[in-house]
Amino acid sequence: MTARSAYIHIPFCSHKCDFCDFAAFAGLDHMSEAYCKTVVQEIDERLDQNPVGLPLKTIFYGGGTPGYIDPAELNLIHTKLKERPGVAEDAEVTLETTPMTLTQEKVHQWFSIGINRISMGIESLQDSELKAIGRDHDSRTAMDGIKRARAAGVKNIALDLIYGLPGQTLISWEDTLDKLLSFDPAHVSAYGLSITGSLKLHYPPGSDAYPDDELFASMYDSLIDKCAQNGLIQYEISNFAKPGHESRHNLCYWRNEEYLAFGVGAHRYLNGVRSANLRSFNRYMRDYLSDESSETIDQERLVSDGIMLGLRLRTGLNPHEFKRRYGVDLMDRIADKLPMLVDNGLAEWEAGALRLTRKGILISNTILAELI
Ligand SMILES: C[S@@+](CC[C@H](N)C(=O)[O-])C[C@H]1O[C@@H](n2cnc3c(N)ncnc32)[C@H](O)[C@@H]1O
Ligand code: SF4
Repeated sequence: MTARSAYIHIPFCSHKCDFCDFAAFAGLDHMSEAYCKTVVQEIDERLDQNPVGLPLKTIFYGGGTPGYIDPAELNLIHTKLKERPGVAEDAEVTLETTPMTLTQEKVHQWFSIGINRISMGIESLQDSELKAIGRDHDSRTAMDGIKRARAAGVKNIALDLIYGLPGQTLISWEDTLDKLLSFDPAHVSAYGLSITGSLKLHYPPGSDAYPDDELFASMYDSLIDKCAQNGLIQYEISNFAKPGHESRHNLCYWRNEEYLAFGVGAHRYLNGVRSANLRSFNRYMRDYLSDESSETIDQERLVSDGIMLGLRLRTGLNPHEFKRRYGVDLMDRIADKLPMLVDNGLAEWEAGALRLTRKGILISNTILAELI
C-alpha cells in the first residue's frame, strides 16, 4: 500500500515547557531557515530512494511549534511536497501552533500555503495549573489566541488539553472544559499528563499534587460527557470531533497504515519498517538520512499493532475486517483473554465490533499489554 500521509516535524519553540518530552527546542530560531532547507533535501533524497506514487491525502506539520517560524520557510517544505510526491486537491493539511504565536497575518499566510486545519495547545484554562507545568501562557492569552484564530477565519480548529495536572480538581477541570467548549471547536484532544523519566516537572511523579486514580477517572467521565453535550463525538480514546472533522491524519496512524515522515526525530512507517530520524538537532542537520531507531514489522507485530491501534478507536475491531486485513482470526487470537475482559466490563461488543468500555479505557495500557 502506498503511503498517502506525511508528518513533518518542526522543532522550534518560543519556550520549552516543563511537561514536554518532544524534540522541541527554544533558542534555535536563527536555524529555522537552514532547517527547512535540510528538510527539503531530506524529502528529495528519501523520495529518490523510495518513490511514492500517489499524491498525499494528509500532511501534519507538528512540533515543536510550526506556527512559530516564518510561514515563508514552511512554504519551502510545502512547495517541495506539492512538487513530489504531490498533494491531493482535498488534502487535510494541519499545522500545530501555540495560541501566542498565532497572528491574523500568519493565519492568512498559512491559508495561502494550503494549510486548512489549525491545532492549538491550550492545555488548561486555569492560571495556577498552567504555571505548575511550566507553560508560558495564561488562560487569558490562550483564549485570546483562539479568538484571533476565529477572527482570522479559522473554522477547522482543533484544541488540545491535558488533565491529571498538579493541583487540578474536578471543578477546575470542568471549568476549563466549559470555557474551551464555548469556542465551539471542531476537534478536541485531551490526554492525561504523561511524565517520562527525563522530565523535570516542579512536582515530581507520585507527588500528592497530582489527582488520584478516582479523580482521574471522574475527569475522564466529564470529558466524554461534556464533549458529547457539545456535539463532539468520541472517536478515539483521547479524541473528540464534530462529525466529519475527525483527524484524517491521525486516523491513518490508528488504522495501522503507512506514512512518510521528515525532520528531526520524526517517526515513519514505510515498506514494513518503522523508523525514526536522529533526535539530536545538530546530528540531524549533518546526517538527515540516518536512523535513531529502526524496526522491521513482521507478521506477528503487524497483527499485534493492528489490535493495539484498533482498540484505541471507538469503532473498535470488526473480526471480519480484521481477517480481511491481516488474514488472522481475531477471536482465535484473543480467545483466552476475551471472556475475562467482557465479564469484567472492560470490553464490549458494539455494532459487530469489539471495543473497550470506559472502565477498560482507564486501564487500556494494562489490557493491551495482556492482549498482544
Ligand atoms: C507537542 S505539542 C505541539 C504543539 C505546540 N507546540 C503546543 O504546545 O501547543 C502538542 C500537544 O502535545 C501535548 N503534550 C505534550 N507533552 C505532553 C505530556 N507530557 N502529557 C500529555 N500531553 C502532552 C499537549 O497537549 C500539546 O498541546
Ligand atoms: S509543549 Fe509545545 S510549546 Fe511546549 S515545548 Fe513542547 S512543543 Fe514546545
